[in-house]
This record gives sequence, structure tokens and C-alpha cells, in this order.
Amino acid sequence: MTEDFHTGDLVQLTDTRGRHHTITLAADAVFHSHKGGLAHNDLIGNPEGSTVTSTGGMVYLALRPILEDYTLAMGRRAAIVYPKDAFAIIGLAGLSPGCRVLEAGAGSGALTCFLLNAVGAEGRVHSVEIRPEFAEIAKRNVVGWFGEEPPNWNLEIGDVSSPDVDGSEVDAVVLDMLSPWESLPTVAERLRPGGRLIAYVATTTQLSYWAESLRADARWTEPRATESMVRTWHLEGLAVRPDHRMIGHTAFLVSCRRLAPGVSPPRRRRRPAPGAYGPDYKGPRPPDVLAQTTEPADSDSEPDSDPQINYPQI
Ligand SMILES: C[S@@+](CC[C@H](N)C(=O)[O-])C[C@H]1O[C@@H](n2cnc3c(N)ncnc32)[C@H](O)[C@@H]1O
Repeated sequence: MTEDFHTGDLVQLTDTRGRHHTITLAADAVFHSHKGGLAHNDLIGNPEGSTVTSTGGMVYLALRPILEDYTLAMGRRAAIVYPKDAFAIIGLAGLSPGCRVLEAGAGSGALTCFLLNAVGAEGRVHSVEIRPEFAEIAKRNVVGWFGEEPPNWNLEIGDVSSPDVDGSEVDAVVLDMLSPWESLPTVAERLRPGGRLIAYVATTTQLSYWAESLRADARWTEPRATESMVRTWHLEGLAVRPDHRMIGHTAFLVSCRRLAPGVSPPRRRRRPAPGAYGPDYKGPRPPDVLAQTTEPADSDSEPDSDPQINYPQI
């Protein structure tokens, strides 16, 4: 890629109030804003980082967007994985050039772009999306970022929980869907031993159900849940402080790894927290966890029974 702008480039224009507009440069085209028109020809041939002025006098800074800018600006119907979470997913999934990844659902294709970037041309991404209309949006957004449909990307319209989904082995699986537990049987078949499974779940009820589903399935290391909070800062002279506003919540990330076939999770002696699996608990039960039929006398007391949970450790 040359430094100068040319036809077909994605360009992010930032006005003097910090508002962004993303355009694709085309000869003789005009970007219309409330501050008049801006001829694309005024940018074509200029270096990245130039400024241009619209007919109404607004000055715009022109830069090629990074993927964070692009995914936040692109068209969508399904909620996207936020860039802060996509960064974490790439690290937790241990992605590097050459990795093979399965993702579901593709949604708007935001995470797909990050995954394709991380695995590079030698890697492979297989995205599964159950809703054809969302798959279409994902495809449009991925092509918008890469300029073509990447040859190492396979977008399949289908249910990732179905045994009919393409079954080749992968190094990592990333799930961003309402009921990831429904896909556990197929995902366990696809993931190589030691492979990483990352789920992006929005609510605490999903988080609990997912963690217990993994334990009950007993083919995984102990699930680890994290949450990424990114706080931007106001930087001005002596007024250096956190910004008042932030994205407070997006989703939780749960990561674990596939055990070798037939291997039982190593035992770890640990008592469940009082009431953890008490009478109100209706979810999946890890092997070896006895049902607690009565609530403990107080929340600080030890449980009456001494159940041993068979927790695999990372
Ligand atoms: C929140 S969106 C995913 C957004 C996407 N990660 C992104 O960054 O743009 C969730 C998607 O999962 C899809 N989905 C739900 N269940 C599915 C299943 N069993 N198999 C495949 N896709 C599924 C939904 O149709 C929806 O598009």
C-alpha cells in the first residue's frame, strides 16, 4: 500500500468537532456534509494524514481507518464484538499467523475481520451464521475491509450446533451467540486437543449456565471468566483525569481448553461456595457435585456435605 491516497481507498475523515465519516475514494465523487461538499479528487494523490477543506469551510483530517475505526463505523444489524473485546479474544485464543479458527455466529462480521487479520494469509477462518440476512451483512463488511472476499475465509450459512456443519479440525473456536451450550457437542468434535474455546456472553445468567455446561461436559479445562473495561482519559494541561463516560458493559469472555479425547479432567479438591448448587440452582451440574437440598445456616458457614468437584485446571 502506498502512502498516498488513491481510488478505492477507505478514508476516515475527522472534522474539527471530532466527528468521523468513512468514505471510499472514487474519481470525481463528492462527499456531502452539512458543511458543504468535499471533492474526492482533492484527496486522491495526497499523502495520508493530509487535511482538506469542504466548500462550507470545514477542515477534515484524512487517515485510513484502522480496524477499530472500521468496525465501529460499519453497517450492522447484529450487535458487534467491541474492539476492546476483539483484542482480548485474539490474545485469549492464542491466535497467530497460520491458526485455523471456527467462529459462530458471524453476525455483522466485526469479529471475523479481527480474526482474519490475526491468522493472516496462512491461516483460515470458518464463520458460521444461522441467519442468511446477517451472513450477507457480514460478507459485505468483510469485503469492505479486505477489498475482496478473503480466499482463506469460509462463510457457511447454518447452525453451528448441527453435525452437518463443515467438520475440519481447528486450533480455536470463538462463540458469540445466545445459547453457546447447544453447540458444545459439535465444537468439542472440531477443536483439536489443547485448542482454545472462547465464548462471548452478555449476561450473568448466560455466564453461569455456560461455565456449568463446560464443567458438566467434562472435556474442558476449568473455565476462566474475564471482563475488559477500557476507560479513556481526558488529557489537557493539568486537567488529566478519566473521561466521564465509558462503555460500561459489553460482555464477559469465558476461555478454556480442550482436553485430549478420553481424558478425565485432573481432580482438584475444592468445596463449592455455600449455596452454590443449593435448591435454587437449576442448571447443569458438574460431575461429583452433590445436590445441596437445604440452604446452609448462614452464608459464611461451611457446607454440610463435603462434595469434591472434578475441576480441570488450566
Ligand atoms: C451478536 S451476533 C454476532 C456478532 C459478531 N460476532 C460480530 O462481531 O459482528 C450473534 C449471531 O449469532 C447468530 N447465531 C445464533 N445462534 C446461532 C447458531 N446456532 N449457529 C450459527 N449462528 C448463530 C445470530 O444469528 C447472530 O447473527
